[in-house]
Amino acid sequence: MKILAIETSCDETSVALVECAGGLRAPRFKVLRNIVSSQIAVHRPFGGVVPNLAKREHLKNLPKILKTLLASGYTLNPDVIAVTVGPGLEPALWTGIEFAKELHRNLQLITKNGKLVLLGANHMEGHLYSFLLPRQKKTVEAKKQKAKSKNIFPAIALVVSGGHTILLKMDSFTKWEKLGETRDDAAGEAFDKVARMMKLSYPGGPEIEKLARKGNPQAIPFPRPMLRDKGYDFSFSGLKTSVLYYLRDHPKAEKVDVAASFQAAVLDVLVGKTMRAAGEFGVRSVILCGGVAANKALRANLQLTTDNLRLKFFVPDFEYNTDNAAMIAAAAYIRLLAKKKPCRLTAQANLNL
Ligand code: KG4
Ligand code: ZN
Repeated sequence: MKILAIETSCDETSVALVECAGGLRAPRFKVLRNIVSSQIAVHRPFGGVVPNLAKREHLKNLPKILKTLLASGYTLNPDVIAVTVGPGLEPALWTGIEFAKELHRNLQLITKNGKLVLLGANHMEGHLYSFLLPRQKKTVEAKKQKAKSKNIFPAIALVVSGGHTILLKMDSFTKWEKLGETRDDAAGEAFDKVARMMKLSYPGGPEIEKLARKGNPQAIPFPRPMLRDKGYDFSFSGLKTSVLYYLRDHPKAEKVDVAASFQAAVLDVLVGKTMRAAGEFGVRSVILCGGVAANKALRANLQLTTDNLRLKFFVPDFEYNTDNAAMIAAAAYIRLLAKKKPCRLTAQANLNL
């Protein structure tokens, strides 16, 4: 089945064409095209995403991306059109939904395919399944990842993005229990806010990571919020405030050390809670996903810890960590396989897992 997917929930406009096959036990994906147009440069002067600017850019970029897709020789004859309906910024979500509706109408006429389906997809499900999208480069790591992708469950999934920090216990691709989530800032949001305090540019995650590589992670003992807490909820706003006070009281602090110490505190909490859950529930695998999964220190830390315990570790290819439409195709396909109720075709800013 060929799915044309559209993603406009935040500051990336993306369209993908994905060939989907296999059943619920082993869904398979072949990404024919995944075009992402980033708006980072537009939002950077404002230090964060401006919803109406995002909407304007999506409106401008969507037809351009579709043209690029057609120019690269693909015939647009999908079986399904999938579009992100949430969570995200409402004006941004609407641009994708309206575009998808119009495309659906036009393609039905052009291809004379009255059966062409239009489906809403959950952005967070996209992140959750993004590790299933095949590696573009056929490296040794890619082969290993493919080989171990049988018998994944039960698994613990850590979903860390700009808007969410969620820990799930998954029994299958479609059955999960939420163990905990953030009570205030999401992990990515904490990276972005601390970066702003340090006068680094937006988005802050990659900037902090770059600085952290040169600093001492033990230089400043920032708190590890809720690490010792019995439950699986997270909280990053206190840590953010600690960094704020530290910067105020130490105006000559080495930025590299602040970045490294802050990153170490976030990683200790994320890895600590994930591995405690993995132990408590005796799972086979750990899955890491969402924009913050692009952080190489976090990937390496979880890789090492899971290797030591002989657990499988799954993480998306770098191309699919941050927002993209290929993962939206995966979310729509798995929902179809599971015969789950389709997501309503209206913007749902607070949709969750
Ligand atoms: O998943 P995503 O693209 O968008 C949302 O759905 O929110 O995640 C974006 C978030 C931003 O907060 C960004 O700073 C963070 O992911 N991020 C990182 C890194 N790359 C992106 N955080 C830490 N280290 C990184 N390398
Ligand atoms: Zn996202």
